[in-house]
Amino acid sequence: MTEKTISLPLNRRHFILGASAALFAPSVSVFADDVPVSLDGYRVLTAGKTTASLLGKDSSATPVWAYNGTNPGPVIRVKQGEKVKVRLINKLDQPTSIHWHGIRIDNAMDGVTGLTQEPVKPGESFEYEFIAPDAGTYWYHTHNRSWEQLARGLYGMLIVEEPDASKYRDLNLVLDDWRLSKDGSIEEQSMGELHDWAHGGRLGNVLTVNGQPGPVFDVTTGEQLRLRIVNVANSRIMKLNIADHDPWLIALDGHPVTPRKLKKGDLVLGPAQRVDLVVDAKLKSGTKSPIQFVSDRQKIDIATINYVTGELATPAVFTRPSGLPVSMPHSGFNLEAAKTVDLNMIGGAMGNMDRAMLGGKMLDWRQLVKAKRVWAFNGIAGDLDKPLVQVRKGETVRIDIINDTAFPHAMHLHGHHFTVVTRNNMSVAGRVWRDTELVYPDEKVSFAFLADNPGKWLFHCHMIEHQAGGMMTWIDVA
Ligand code: C2O
Ligand code: CU
Repeated sequence: MTEKTISLPLNRRHFILGASAALFAPSVSVFADDVPVSLDGYRVLTAGKTTASLLGKDSSATPVWAYNGTNPGPVIRVKQGEKVKVRLINKLDQPTSIHWHGIRIDNAMDGVTGLTQEPVKPGESFEYEFIAPDAGTYWYHTHNRSWEQLARGLYGMLIVEEPDASKYRDLNLVLDDWRLSKDGSIEEQSMGELHDWAHGGRLGNVLTVNGQPGPVFDVTTGEQLRLRIVNVANSRIMKLNIADHDPWLIALDGHPVTPRKLKKGDLVLGPAQRVDLVVDAKLKSGTKSPIQFVSDRQKIDIATINYVTGELATPAVFTRPSGLPVSMPHSGFNLEAAKTVDLNMIGGAMGNMDRAMLGGKMLDWRQLVKAKRVWAFNGIAGDLDKPLVQVRKGETVRIDIINDTAFPHAMHLHGHHFTVVTRNNMSVAGRVWRDTELVYPDEKVSFAFLADNPGKWLFHCHMIEHQAGGMMTWIDVA
């Protein structure tokens, strides 16, 4: 399904190196679980340059950009309904911002440079303040020159806890895909290159989990674990296998779903997507079991579940997990009365785009290539001067998407969660609410959502190179 989008083969050598290093890697995570709150009530995130041991402790460290000096940045862990205050300090030498991906947030705090805020200049700071209305697994990341800043490591996990403490133990997995040079540094020559932008994006040759080549998660027989997984890669779709375990799916993009067992091949995360799984630790102590990245050509161990000796005095009863509480209001969602808008995706390599509008002018393909805008929505190559559609607060909006390109796209709507109502003209049973969804080549997919949050909401492909290359528009909720 995605093989044709892979322009660089995953480098086996790095993975073998990663896997053997994993045997000796300590099971501690290198990034902090929550940021201390300062006296004035802010969690401080400092964006700056540092290094990370992406290839393991014995290999040369990779210069990265990071929040508070670690890759990934620290987990931000808050309570549902809590007022979250974060001070971003920019110690990079280019402007930046933070977007709180998936949070139904006040528009002014959404972090989109050029739409909701000015970029935060080097040496300056910006204070974000918002309520996190829904519990779940979210993440935060840069939203300025993301094709560069995300590729260099500016992201972290954001966990909003349910009010009643979870009975599961959290294991957090932040998955990234890096394109590194032989010396272990981030490959820079191709960064921002049109070839990737017009194909499957910047696909890497090294996978990390929590900034490590193969972390080991110690577990005890009898535990029930909650795996919170986020794919922060610029463009790689990740198919995973939690070997020897039969995980329950309990949430998608932070939003609870009716718990169900995942079938083989069902665990697929497009860029920016999250899943929450319940995993019953039911193997014998002393067992090691891999978490694998799966492609058509290979299976790569990216982490290990390590059963330590002994078992819980009172083992959990491994029954179907009860569903998580849903807080997102969908009352008022009315598909019959929806305002409908078409969104035709064209462009990219092997596509059929011969012209598109840019800056109010019609450009031919050659001019578009020169301007590095090689994708378009409804014939417009990423201009933000006009919204895709203007709606009233409280309206239901339906977007009929046609992917007339040769690539899958991970469409992300800011500030709202949407539901897929039809796929290839077949209606989709059951409402699943997400903030990011994959739309495959030649698919027709209809999204619908309740526009209950006023503001300017970006709607874009989260294959970051596609976004930069024109797959970006916004919705105006008045
Ligand atoms: Cu995850 Cu527009 O962002
Ligand atoms: Cu895309």
